[in-house]
Amino acid sequence: MTSTGGEQARKTAEGLEYLSGFGNEHSSEAVPGALPHGRNSPQRAPLGLYAEQLSGTAFTEPRHSNRRSWLYRIRPSAAHPAFTRIDNGALRSAPFPEGVTDPNRLRWNPLPEPATGTDFLAGLWTLGGNGDAAQRSGMAVHLYAANASMTGRVFSDSDGELLIVPERGGLLLRTEFGLLRAEPGHVALIPRGVRFRVELLDETARGYVCENYGQPFVLPELGPIGANGLANARDFLAPTAAYEDVEGPVEVVTKYCGNLWSATYGHSPLDVVAWHGNLVPYVYDLRRFNVIGSISYDHPDPSIFTVLTSPSDTPGLAGVDFVVFAPRWLVGEDTFRPPYFHRNVMSEYMGLIEGAYDAKAEGFLPGGGSLHNMMSAHGPDRDTFEKASAAGLKPQKLDDGLAFMFETRWPVTLTPQAAQAGHLQRGYDGVWQGLERHFRP
Ligand SMILES: [Fe+2]
Repeated sequence: MTSTGGEQARKTAEGLEYLSGFGNEHSSEAVPGALPHGRNSPQRAPLGLYAEQLSGTAFTEPRHSNRRSWLYRIRPSAAHPAFTRIDNGALRSAPFPEGVTDPNRLRWNPLPEPATGTDFLAGLWTLGGNGDAAQRSGMAVHLYAANASMTGRVFSDSDGELLIVPERGGLLLRTEFGLLRAEPGHVALIPRGVRFRVELLDETARGYVCENYGQPFVLPELGPIGANGLANARDFLAPTAAYEDVEGPVEVVTKYCGNLWSATYGHSPLDVVAWHGNLVPYVYDLRRFNVIGSISYDHPDPSIFTVLTSPSDTPGLAGVDFVVFAPRWLVGEDTFRPPYFHRNVMSEYMGLIEGAYDAKAEGFLPGGGSLHNMMSAHGPDRDTFEKASAAGLKPQKLDDGLAFMFETRWPVTLTPQAAQAGHLQRGYDGVWQGLERHFRP
């Protein structure tokens, strides 16, 4: 039922078929006739399956934001033994009573290589976050580094949805809804509570995870942009139904209000033969993002690069935005083209998937990250400023990097392991030293 990564997983990943769209009603059956018609919960579900609803929003939330799916499975999820606490590894949750909320600009190198045999779950390492998992508000920033597929166990996160951003190595995600492939440059989303197993398509895997405790990610409103643009709904791909009919011990690990709990089932819980609904895992290729920018002067605020947003109760104020800095043309006249100097009430965690970021000439590495917390002053480094202030303003293609940002409404509190990490760069402030005085009154 599992592979140890590499060839078998890659072969499986190459043959995957998907369903297209965001937030719409999908349906899929791995065996013809497994989906009931005309009702969700017939007296006897087809093929001897159990019907089960998975609710991602309250029953009564408005239609445009309501998310639920119906699963038709070999055994109901209720058929499980008791969970018991297991060690949390390097995984932490908000609030962080021992954490540090630091006003300094901070930057980390990539995670150190993990020990042999580290799978995705064991390789999760929490940088920090905000809010409170049990209050279903806020978010956490995790990184992962793995060199083994998950075997004999699956994971689910009751605390939030997981936005996985691979930076190195492809992932095959075997979920209750079916299989997804996520390569570097893609993002994958696993809804709250959905069981999944991560198999590696390459020898190693590394990347980032935004754990969103708050309202599920949605596409941002487009306003005057119109009916198209930014991330287009049709480019979000949900799996088609695929199930495991496996009897035998499978460990199910659940993250619940900040701690990991484990139960050993007598069967695989990835046993959903058919499903329908609008609460689904999905993948999205960031290179499909339709980048919109200025064709006159200045450039818009980086919110124009929002891929997904988790709304709060205040219109326009996100719990967390996922923002991508994708290849694009810069054409602004009489314009300082790199990101401007900035102090922000929102807090910005940035990561780099490949190449270089246009505001930092060096030191910001793929797999690394920076945190510019609430009101911390940031912007281009000295070299970038000097070059961009003197550059000829011909149209310029930025095409050597893919960076992203988790931008969140509250300051990010660091875990002690992040505040004291050996891979935390010392002297990041030096980036902004030597910005010379040019004032000539
Ligand atoms: Fe900023």
